[in-house]
Amino acid sequence: MSPTRKPHPKAETALLLASIRQLLTLQTSPANSRPRRGRELKELGIIEDGAVLCLGGKIVSVGKTKDALRDPWLTKNRRKVIEIDCAGKVVLPGFVDSHTHPVFVSPRLVDFEKRIEGASYEEIAEAGGGIRSSLDGVRKAGKALLAGRILAALRDMASHGTTTVEAKSGYGLTIESELKSLEAIRDAASRWPGTVVPTLLGAHVVPKEFQGRSQEYVEIVCKDMIPRAARRKLVRFVDVFCDKGAFTADETEQIFEAAAHYGLDVRAHVGQLSETALWPFLRFNPTSLDHMDHVNDDDISQLAKRDTVATLVPGANYFLGLKEYSPARKFIDAGVPVALATDYNPGTSPTMSMPMAMSLACTQMKMAPAEAIAAATINGAWALRLTDQKGSVERGKDADLAVFSVDDYRAIPYWFGINRCELTVLNGTVQGFS
Ligand code: NIG
Ligand code: FE
Repeated sequence: MSPTRKPHPKAETALLLASIRQLLTLQTSPANSRPRRGRELKELGIIEDGAVLCLGGKIVSVGKTKDALRDPWLTKNRRKVIEIDCAGKVVLPGFVDSHTHPVFVSPRLVDFEKRIEGASYEEIAEAGGGIRSSLDGVRKAGKALLAGRILAALRDMASHGTTTVEAKSGYGLTIESELKSLEAIRDAASRWPGTVVPTLLGAHVVPKEFQGRSQEYVEIVCKDMIPRAARRKLVRFVDVFCDKGAFTADETEQIFEAAAHYGLDVRAHVGQLSETALWPFLRFNPTSLDHMDHVNDDDISQLAKRDTVATLVPGANYFLGLKEYSPARKFIDAGVPVALATDYNPGTSPTMSMPMAMSLACTQMKMAPAEAIAAATINGAWALRLTDQKGSVERGKDADLAVFSVDDYRAIPYWFGINRCELTVLNGTVQGFS
């Protein structure tokens, strides 16, 4: 399925954000032909005293406020335009959260407590907690309940500046419950003015009933789940959790083959708990490889030559209480394009906040604030192959903007545990939060 197309019926026909203290356009020249890497991650294309004019859910002009106000169309139609005074504020492209797992019923509070007492992610999973303990709730839930949970999460995300969300299934792990999860994503997306990109994560773990028979489960994913989800146009991507306790590299390749056969792009969770050689996956041109806490230098140099994005999710490391984070500096200095995402999920990263993920990226992975912003916007859009519509403030792109009540972009990751997002524009629809 292509991402849900808007303009939303509620999109303001004409919208002017003016007197913006810092407008981060994320524009570069030449235009975005490849994901940002190395020094390009620091190029935010800042316009001081900037303005953005949006019409019918699209951005139609970007520049200095004084030039925007002289625009002949604007002078003639000023009365029809909704104007938002952004004096003293920062405006940037809405965040693209390119890795989330919003289809679950309950938080995993027991896992949380056990981990505080010293149990590891793998020990909790072996003792019946972990991903498998979320399956029951999703299998029993009706689609409307799941859609309600997803919609609530999407609204919380928007309140923190996110306008595009990749949403994975993966807590059902039967054909019926995975299709139900994807339908719930579609239903929630149709009631949210932002953009949702659906991903099938039928290969999240091997469910209990297939224990010791993982190959049989992989066959179901390849021969049933992927074809049915693809035929019904419920998905854009196929994802696999490739790690110890989940799926092997061989199984991941089988699943990627099936996805490719049905014309779906692939992405994977890799290197979260242990190192897996990545080169066998590169022939599938994965759009993104995510987590990447454990990765070898050869793979880093391979990735530096390609457009596969390394999507880093420091919220998971933080919440699991890990001391080690993904080696973001090594990736950036080697020229690997990196994106940042929340990994919103009930087990390892219960946060909807991209500013929190960015704050962790800065303090724990030593990314510069400017790098964190590019990773959370334009490179997030690359990780979903949506750069023709998303990720920068440019004429012709979707009207997706976040307004923060701070006067310097560095303050976005600086403040943590508090939300400074004041307003979000999603495909031209304005949502205020303060
Ligand atoms: O990205 N690693 C696999 N999936 C999730 C965790 C899911 C869970 O624990 O429920 C992740 O961290
Ligand atoms: Fe994840």
